[in-house]
Amino acid sequence: MKILVTGGAGYIGIHTVIELQASGHEVVVVDNLVNSKLAALKRAEQISGKEVLFLEADVRNRNAMEQVCQSHRFDCCIHFAGLKAVGESVLQPWKYYDNNLTGTLVLLDVLANNGCKNLIFSSSATVYGNPAIIPVTEACPKGRCTNPYAQSKSMAEQILMDIHKADPEWNIVLLRYFNPIGAHKSGMIGEDPRGIPNNLMPYITQVAVGKLEKLSIFGDDYHTPDGTGVRDYIHVVDLAKGHVKALDSVIGQCGLEVFNLGTGSGYSVLDVVNSFEKVNHVKIAYEIKGRRAGDIAICYSDPGKAERVLGWKAEYGLEDMCRDSWNWQKNNPNGFEDEGKKL
Ligand code: NAD
Ligand code: UD1
Repeated sequence: MKILVTGGAGYIGIHTVIELQASGHEVVVVDNLVNSKLAALKRAEQISGKEVLFLEADVRNRNAMEQVCQSHRFDCCIHFAGLKAVGESVLQPWKYYDNNLTGTLVLLDVLANNGCKNLIFSSSATVYGNPAIIPVTEACPKGRCTNPYAQSKSMAEQILMDIHKADPEWNIVLLRYFNPIGAHKSGMIGEDPRGIPNNLMPYITQVAVGKLEKLSIFGDDYHTPDGTGVRDYIHVVDLAKGHVKALDSVIGQCGLEVFNLGTGSGYSVLDVVNSFEKVNHVKIAYEIKGRRAGDIAICYSDPGKAERVLGWKAEYGLEDMCRDSWNWQKNNPNGFEDEGKKL
C-alpha cells in the first residue's frame, strides 16, 4: 500500500517508516522539520535499504498537501505531525491549537478531496486525564485535560469522531499511546529532543552521557509501591509495529476504532532508573524533588483490545527499552547533530 506519513521524520514517525517499509509498504513523508532533522530520514534509508520519498512541508499548507496527494494515490495516511511539549503548550496555546488542530483539519479536507478516507491518528493516554479505571481500557471516559497539548489531542479525537459520524466512508483509527521510549536496535535512530528534555527517559540518558548533572525525581509521596509515579513505558519499535497492524484494520473498513498502545505493565520512576543502571552498568545521579504540576500517580493500559482486534502485542520489556535508549544516546551524544561524524 502507499502511505502518507505526516511527521514521519520525528521520533515515532521514523521508527514507523522503517516498519512500514519492512512490511512492503511504499511511504511518502511530509514533515516541516520543526522538531526533527533530515538526517533521521537518511538513516532510515540506510537501515531499510529503501528510499524514503520526502516533502518538506507544513501540513497546514493546503497547496503543498494538494500537490502531494494529487501526485500519489494514497491508500492511507498516518498522521503524526504535531507539537508535543506540554510546558510550551501552556505558554503558547495558540501555536498548539493552530498546529495540531488546523493541521489535522487541512489534512482531512485534502485527503478526502483526493479520494483517501483512511486515517490513523496519533493520540495519547493523556486524553484519559487522571484515569477513572486502572488498568485503563478504551471504555474509560476521557478526563480533564490540564494543558493545551492534551486538549488539542482530545479535541482532534472529537473532530475525527464527528467527521466519521457525518461521513461513514471514513475509516479512522485513534491510537492512544502510553509512554514511548527506547530506540531502534541499530542505535542509528532514536529520540532527539530539543533543549533540556521534559520526559523521563531522554533525561536519564542525558545524565548517563554526562550532558546533565542529575535527574530530578518529581515526587516520592504518591500512593504507589515506592512513592514515585507509575507509567506504562512502551518500546517505540513495538509502537511502530502497532501502526502497521492498524493499517489492516483501516483498509478492512473498520469505521472508527480506538486502541490503547501500551504494554499493560506499570513501572515507577525508580524502577526505570534501577533497570537502566542494571542493564547498562551506568550510575544515574538523582535527587527527589516536589511533584510536577499536572502529573498523576498511576497510569497504565489494558492493551487487550489491540491484541484481540489487531493481533498486536508489545514484545519488548523495560530492560530492552533501557538498553536501546542508551545504545542510541551513547552512540549519538548530540543526537542527529553527530550526523557528519557518523556517515
Ligand atoms: P516528534 O516531535 O518527534 O515528531 C513530530 C513530527 O511532526 C516532527 O518531525 C515535526 O517536525 C513534525 N511536525 C510538527 N508539526 C508539523 C506540521 N505542522 N507540519 C508538518 N510536520 C510537522 O514527536 P513524536 O514523539 O514522534 O510524536 C508523534 C505524534 O505522536 C505527535 O502527534 C505526538 O503528539 C503524539 N504522541 C507522542 C507521544 C510521545 O511521548 N512521544 C505520546 C503520545 C502521543
Ligand atoms: C508526559 C506528558 C504527557 C504525554 C506523555 C507522553 C506531562 C505533564 N505529561 O507524560 O502529556 O502524553 O509525556 O510522552 O508532561 N519524571 C521525573 N523526572 C523527570 C521527568 C519525568 O521524575 O525529569 C517522572 C514524572 O513525574 C512521571 C514519569 O517520570 O512520573 C514519566 O514522566 P514523562 O516521561 O514526562 O511522561 P508523563 O508525565 O507520563
